[in-house]
Amino acid sequence: MQDKLKQLQTLRQKALLGGGAERISKQHAKGKLTARERVELLLDPGTFEELDMLVTHRTTDFGMDSQTFLGDGVVTGYGLIDGRLVYVFSQDFTVFGGSLSETHAEKICKVMDMAMKNGAPIIGLNDSGGARIQEGVRSLGGYADIFYRNVMASGVIPQISAIMGPCAGGAVYSPAMTDFTIMTEHSSFMFVTGPNVVKTVTNEAVTAEELGGAHTHATKSGVTHFTAENDYTNIMLIKELLGYLPQNCEEKTPILPYELAEENRPKLDHIIPDSPNIPYDMKEVILQLLDDAQFLESQPEYGANIITGFGRIAGRSIGVVANQPLVLAGVLDVNASKKAARFVRFCDAFNIPLLVLEDVPGFLPGTEQEWNAIILNGAKLLYAFSEATVPRITVVTRKAYGGAYDVMNSKHIGADLNYAWPSAEIAVMGAKGASEIIFKRDIKNAPDPEAKLKELEDQYAEKFANPYIAASRGFIDEVIPPSATRIKLIKAFDMLQNKVDRLPRKKHGNIPL
Ligand code: HXC
Repeated sequence: MQDKLKQLQTLRQKALLGGGAERISKQHAKGKLTARERVELLLDPGTFEELDMLVTHRTTDFGMDSQTFLGDGVVTGYGLIDGRLVYVFSQDFTVFGGSLSETHAEKICKVMDMAMKNGAPIIGLNDSGGARIQEGVRSLGGYADIFYRNVMASGVIPQISAIMGPCAGGAVYSPAMTDFTIMTEHSSFMFVTGPNVVKTVTNEAVTAEELGGAHTHATKSGVTHFTAENDYTNIMLIKELLGYLPQNCEEKTPILPYELAEENRPKLDHIIPDSPNIPYDMKEVILQLLDDAQFLESQPEYGANIITGFGRIAGRSIGVVANQPLVLAGVLDVNASKKAARFVRFCDAFNIPLLVLEDVPGFLPGTEQEWNAIILNGAKLLYAFSEATVPRITVVTRKAYGGAYDVMNSKHIGADLNYAWPSAEIAVMGAKGASEIIFKRDIKNAPDPEAKLKELEDQYAEKFANPYIAASRGFIDEVIPPSATRIKLIKAFDMLQNKVDRLPRKKHGNIPL
């Protein structure tokens, strides 16, 4: 028995070394952690249970039979984060560049299946040269097996992808189908075709960083939700994010213990500028409303005219969607609509109540927007809110104009409670634009058209640029002082905690993708 135990120990020690000490040093020299170091950092100490440590590839072509590494380039298993179960796979770049073989894929599929059956999040730490070139179509099949599981798991368990090295070719489609992607700055990149192919096909000269680095995907494409300075902060972000999420779609949002204290927020009574044309920072409003001013913003640099992210109100996780008057006056455009729609659908899938803060002058006009299908993209947000069955509350802080009023979680599309501040302006359009259209003749015939426009504009604003007409029809449930908003939200989310709402029976809807 002692010999056998020794043999097991030797095998384990060999597996722990991955591609060997030299390649581990190379990984460290690039400022990257190894696959195992990442898993250790991610999970509560001593909780990692590794599976398939002794798996090896089955390829014999290209002399591969003489090159086997225990574990075959991916560390898989389960463990705890803040005491809660998660499944994890972590690609080991020191073994064939973390490339995906048939067996490497089988290991990932195994933990994905277990995560699904046992209702716990799956976290993928990606660092891979893509398909194992020596394996050809078997590797492609392995990818497709993973993609299929990503889709089956979508909306059932949270799926989080950290990109900590290369992620190229078809490999990008697994993270793309997970719920959140976090890219490490400078050491990770994602693209379907790399700089060399781009140069050959389109003659564009571009670096890997420019084409698909963290900054690019955080600002231009919206492919990544978060960026992290290094592997350590990437992993800390995963843990923070998970704290807001339930384990699966059957669970309610996590609630931390909370005792009511002084919930009045006097600062909010002074946040809205006197003129409707002066911007203010909606993030200040958000921080005033959330517990401990803690807000985890998702996609902060993409479509920044809308803010999306997680926070807590009286201990309960909520998703926040808020127009940002500081950027493009908080208008809805293609990117903002897509970003918010996906966020709303995530929250709805995982029972996370939604808080909407509204200050929106309408949709962004222009050929660029129309030709990029603001019609279809705006419809995504309208659709996402309409089908969401989680508790939904809107607070109109200032402008709620035109179609954007309907879209931003209005009562008409199923919001549970709609509050407005006295500064709210709920109308078809702004007073100036409206007066120019409906009083066109009066203005033209007036001895002083400019003075007439101003007079009519003031009259229109007086009549419509307020929350009281909407409140008189019940479209707004209550007009509240800004300082009382937090306590209203605490009570309202508490009241809505057992909400049950069902969509009509159908196979699935047809969201305008
Ligand atoms: C097998 C691979 C590999 C791969 C890297 N390696 N990629 N082995 N299959 N795809 C091996 C290298 O041979 C090397 O082995 C080790 O990993 C590290 O690679 P280096 O090139 O030395 O590292 P680095 O300079 O950091 O460059 C990393 C890299 C580069 C940018 C990822 O290796 C690269 O371009 N690899 C090929 C990428 C690729 O074309 N993959 C296929 C894409 S198509 P040793 O023994 O020296 O340590 C695809 C389709 C998926 O993925 C489709 C899904 C539907």
